[in-house]
Amino acid sequence: MLVLRSLEEPRRFARACRARGERVGLVPTMGYLHEGHLSLIREAKRRARRVVVTLFVNPTQFGAGEDLDRYPRDLERDRALCEAEGADALFTPEARDMYPPSHATRVNVSGTLTSGLCGAKRPGHFAGVATVVTKLFNLCEPDVAVFGQKDAQQAAVIKRVTADLDLPVEIVVAPIVRERDGLAMSSRNVYLSPEERAQAPVLKRSLDAAAALYRGGERRSRVIVEAARSHIGSAPLAKVDYMEMVDAGSLAPVDVLEGPALLAVAVYFGKTRLIDNTLLPDDGVM
Ligand code: PAF
Repeated sequence: MLVLRSLEEPRRFARACRARGERVGLVPTMGYLHEGHLSLIREAKRRARRVVVTLFVNPTQFGAGEDLDRYPRDLERDRALCEAEGADALFTPEARDMYPPSHATRVNVSGTLTSGLCGAKRPGHFAGVATVVTKLFNLCEPDVAVFGQKDAQQAAVIKRVTADLDLPVEIVVAPIVRERDGLAMSSRNVYLSPEERAQAPVLKRSLDAAAALYRGGERRSRVIVEAARSHIGSAPLAKVDYMEMVDAGSLAPVDVLEGPALLAVAVYFGKTRLIDNTLLPDDGVM
């Protein structure tokens, strides 16, 4: 597996692959890989002969006081995991190359895709994500890129950017990968204390309760959201940041579910913020 560091290398790699008739898949990550990331690599491998994993802890998507400095990092372990999974290249650019002092451009998606959920709680976050993903697409020139359903709002934003800017990349969203007790895999799970970790599966249980109500015929958002919230209340260490029902396409709030909806939740355990979601009807991915 190649390890690419300079901004010129991934484009050269992709063009050489395509000259041989090989499709290139991209899996953008911030590293500290877990089984969720590895499932994205496997999905990319199913769709492209060559797979590039990017590993870049993107400073522009972290707000003041967030965990940029303590975000977990282990390059050697990540390199070994990518290689074992059959990735062809790992691209790990430096922040000073991605964002030289002269860098002044932000890709900003406006409207309901970014006004609610994490967009409301983390101002500037999705402009940071959209900017870095656009740069990674330009640098790596993939045919297909794979993202996780756990970051459902991110996936919706990236699909919008790709369509609006006519980027020639197919966006694939892969299902959430969970621990045995239901906790969605996340690099941030390592921050949890044993007590917090024991209570964290409450997110999934709250979404399951909502899905059961939906299957039973309930269509009023307020009723479903309240039921899900009250489940979170059973975990004393959990503090709800938001629990919202939105239209699965526009991410605008919905009062009565008439089409596919997304129930999304963010919960603090101490300083650690976890997110999770389910589609209603629960048919997998965005
Ligand atoms: O989902 C992530 O890990 C990041 O937001 C991404 C897409 C790699 C952009 O930095």
